[in-house]
Amino acid sequence: MERPVDVDPAWMKRVEDVASRLESSPVELAYRLVRASDTKLINMASGNPDPEIVPVKELSEIAMEVLSALGYEALVYPDAGGLEELRKEIRLYMAREGVSIPRDYDIVVTSGAQHAFRLLSEVLGSGRGDVHVICESPTFVETLAPLKLRSEVHGIPFESGRLDLDAMEDTLRALGPGRALIYLIPTCHNPMGVTMDEEDRRRVLELASEYEALVIEDEPYRAFSDSQPPALVTMDEERRVIYVSTLSKVLAPGLRIGWVAAPAEVAGVLTKLENYDITTSTLTQHVALEAFRSGLVDSMASELRDHYRNKRRVLEESLSGHMPPSVAWEPGGCGLFKLITARGFDAEQQLAEAIRRGVIYVPARKFFVPEGEEGSMRLSLGPPTPDEIAEGVRVLSELISERAGA
Ligand SMILES: Cc1ncc(COP(=O)(O)O)c(C=O)c1O
Repeated sequence: MERPVDVDPAWMKRVEDVASRLESSPVELAYRLVRASDTKLINMASGNPDPEIVPVKELSEIAMEVLSALGYEALVYPDAGGLEELRKEIRLYMAREGVSIPRDYDIVVTSGAQHAFRLLSEVLGSGRGDVHVICESPTFVETLAPLKLRSEVHGIPFESGRLDLDAMEDTLRALGPGRALIYLIPTCHNPMGVTMDEEDRRRVLELASEYEALVIEDEPYRAFSDSQPPALVTMDEERRVIYVSTLSKVLAPGLRIGWVAAPAEVAGVLTKLENYDITTSTLTQHVALEAFRSGLVDSMASELRDHYRNKRRVLEESLSGHMPPSVAWEPGGCGLFKLITARGFDAEQQLAEAIRRGVIYVPARKFFVPEGEEGSMRLSLGPPTPDEIAEGVRVLSELISERAGA
């Protein structure tokens, strides 16, 4: 067989330079393992919402209606920034969820929140490499990745489930004014499950003001709990907060509909940049628009509160009932995830054995900045049923008890 021709080494060097800055995500790796598995696993790894409540029938009806009503119009290239009617609906939906944004903020529809972070990293992280990202440690590795490509990242630890804002202040002071982009998931944190209280939110805004920082508020899980403090963007009086959210958890991630709410001049640049991608899909924007107009989004948002609250209760009871004393976690919380840490256990090394026993989780060492403890794991409430959650925790607790310290 003829040997394939090598890529020109000069070009390959460029490719390798980018490759050296890309990190493989433990979340993506876990997804691949789930797909590759011959047997059905108890999937405590995936961030997909529960298949039980994703409104597949309603969405397929809406998609058919959109196509038959709009025909060609649903299939043309999208305008950058998103459909105007959809942007209006998003603003109204946010207000119904208690998130009011200033009048001079614009919405930019993106291909999921992840795309928003790509755009934001290009707009805010570009320049002379002088922008530093400050984030929670742990944080959601995947959204951090694009921000990390262009900026140095500083992690702020949690103390008993509360972000250490004194440490944030020290970091801001060391960086000096006008250099920090603070990326936060203040509501139903991924992976911690905790929510920042109003007092801490106020302090974050004070710090941002004092050190001339901008804040990116990532809030996909607001609808998951009914007692949330006001959003940072709503409390902000200095146009320092850029708000990002998504339909991925309320409806379905495959739609790839997210958005940014930003001061008009920032939103304008994001829109121009989005033009380079020719996105977001016209078809799914129309589907999302109808999902808002028909009330589907609102009814899902209220359904998922009870649904995931029940699953979280089962997880909590199972952890308390089974886990050995070497395992720690923050009780309660909301959203789709819980972080647990098992002392003396290597979650990456033991993942293959957990899969052999029928359970998959995401090893969470890489969610921390700098990297965290080997025994940290992210458990998802998305795909597993309540019975599977109970069984998954039982299997994991056995494995941890056997292998801790091994
Ligand atoms: C905190 C957080 N932000 C953003 C995302 C990504 O959202 P999207 O699917 O809209 O890209 C996720 C997904 O798990 C998330 O947990």
